[in-house]
Amino acid sequence: MEPTPAKSLKTAPEVAEELPPLPVTPVHVGIVMDGNGRWAAQRGLPRLEGHRAGARCVREVAEAAVEFGVKVLTLYAFSTENWARPEAEVSGLMTLLEDSIEREQGAIMENEIQVRSIGRRDAVPSTLQVAIDQLEAATRGNDRLTINFAFNYGGRSEIVDAVREIVAEGVPASRISEATITRHLYTRDLPDPDLVIRTAGEMRLSNFLLWQAAYAEYYAAQVYWPDFGREEFYAALTNYSRRERKFGGLAGGDDYAGSDDCAGSDDCAVGEDSAGSDGLVSSRNGKAKQ
Ligand code: FPP
Repeated sequence: MEPTPAKSLKTAPEVAEELPPLPVTPVHVGIVMDGNGRWAAQRGLPRLEGHRAGARCVREVAEAAVEFGVKVLTLYAFSTENWARPEAEVSGLMTLLEDSIEREQGAIMENEIQVRSIGRRDAVPSTLQVAIDQLEAATRGNDRLTINFAFNYGGRSEIVDAVREIVAEGVPASRISEATITRHLYTRDLPDPDLVIRTAGEMRLSNFLLWQAAYAEYYAAQVYWPDFGREEFYAALTNYSRRERKFGGLAGGDDYAGSDDCAGSDDCAVGEDSAGSDGLVSSRNGKAKQ
């Protein structure tokens, strides 16, 4: 008997349209992945389906980050405030993260991606903690892209934790500087984000990288997270590449010679050095070192 023909033929993998290289690439991009619930509601699906679609999208964005030369991606996966959601959604998110780690481990190693996490470990289920620890250990030597998952993360609790550490170390008040705080954050060995993207058209930081994003550029993407992919990421990076970053200084450098650059601008005062971080890859000029 003839074998039943397959219902559909597998097509060759789609060749992604080549996008022109970007003139400037941010080293570190933070993303607030918003809109999973609304994406699901639009389709009459349970919220968890939105999160599942969101988890699939993480892979596309990670691949695009490698393609575009972004070196660090910090993804806001679960905030210290998200515990206020219904129990079923919270436990569903924990399971989703654990399943994603298991499913994606091969691709992560293949693509030489280093995975890290930031946030408070207490209250995170122990099986998930073990899975995160193992993934971090297994990927420590990878250096093509660092994906930093913010999980049970809050910018305010991060600063509280930093202050507690500083006090516990007995550092005298007079010796505490911005660099001291930076050195005690969860992100101590990462550069500050150059660009923070939030999806779903929302324009809030929601406790994300409060200290580190002091001079980040901000971009609100007008799509829900599960619809955010390579093209939308490229659009955000293109928009970023047109920004002029002044870090509280003046446009085009620091030579103020009676120029009228300040007309109508709020931030013409030369501020204090806000970089604060030492021993980190500098992203102060917003250009990726590749
Ligand atoms: C915000 O959308 C999204 C979250 C709180 C969770 C984000 C999690 C993922 C994208 C999946 C994580 C998976 C991995 C592998 C990291 P929302 O639920 O607040 O959406 P809404 O505002 O439309 O309700």
